[in-house]
Amino acid sequence: MSTYGMGIDIGGSSIKGALVDIENGCVYGEVHVIPTPSEAPAEVVGETVAQLVELCGATEDMPIGIGFPAPVVRGRIPSMANLSPTWVGMDVAEFFTNCVSRPVSVLNDADAAGIAQFSYSHIDSHEQVIVFLTLGTGIGSAIFYDGKLFPNTELGHIHLSSKIQNAEKWAAPSIRTRDNLSLEEWTQRIQLYLSRVEDLFNPDSFILGGGISEHFDTFSKWLTTGATLLPAALRNHAGIVGAARYAYDARA
Ligand code: BGC
Repeated sequence: MSTYGMGIDIGGSSIKGALVDIENGCVYGEVHVIPTPSEAPAEVVGETVAQLVELCGATEDMPIGIGFPAPVVRGRIPSMANLSPTWVGMDVAEFFTNCVSRPVSVLNDADAAGIAQFSYSHIDSHEQVIVFLTLGTGIGSAIFYDGKLFPNTELGHIHLSSKIQNAEKWAAPSIRTRDNLSLEEWTQRIQLYLSRVEDLFNPDSFILGGGISEHFDTFSKWLTTGATLLPAALRNHAGIVGAARYAYDARA
C-alpha cells in the first residue's frame, strides 16, 4: 500500500483537498481549494469531491479520507448545523464512496484536525484530558484522553446562558466577521466559552485551531484558564492531514 493518502476537508466556505505523506504528515503537492456551493447540497458537494480527487491525482492505492462539518456516526449524519439540513440521516461514507467509485472514510472535521495534531506533533498526552477546538465558521471539538479520541463531541453547541443557547452562534470567528467585532471583543466571547468548557471537562490543555489561531500570540494573552493553552500545530491543513491519516489507519 502507498504511504501517501488523500485528505479532503469539507468546510462551510471551501472544500480543500491534497495528497498527504502519511509518514510525516506533510502535504504533498498543491492544496486544491474549491468554494463550497451555496447551501452545499449533497449532489454538488459529491461532484466537487470527485473533481478534487482528479485534480490531486490520487492513485487507486491511496486511501481517501474526508473531514465533514457534522458528527459522523458509523458513516451517518445525525445532525447538521452549517450545511444544508438535507444531509441529515444520509450515509455519507456510502455516498462519497459512490461519488469517487472507491472506498472513502468519513469523520467529523474537528476529529480529523485533532488526529493530525496527535499524530504529527509531540504532545505529552499521558493521562491528559486535551480539548482540541477548531474555530472557524462553527466551533468544532475533539476530546482526547490519554491520546485516545472520544469522537463526535459537538462542544460548539453548548449553552452558555439563557440568552446564548448555542455557543458557536455567538462565539465562532464567523460571527466576529459578521458583527465586525475587534479581536479583543471576540476574545471576551471565547473566554466565556472556554470557561464553560473548563467547568464541564476540566481539561489539562486546550489546543486552538482554525484560521484565527494565526493571531494566537495576541489573543491568548487576554485569556485566563487553569488549563495550558496551545495553538494547533498544523494550522489550516490539519483537517486534510488528519482525514488522510484516519483513512490510512482504517485501511491498514
Ligand atoms: C458542527 C461540528 C463541526 C464544527 C466545525 C459545527 O457546527 O456541528 O460538527 O465540527 O461546526 O466545522
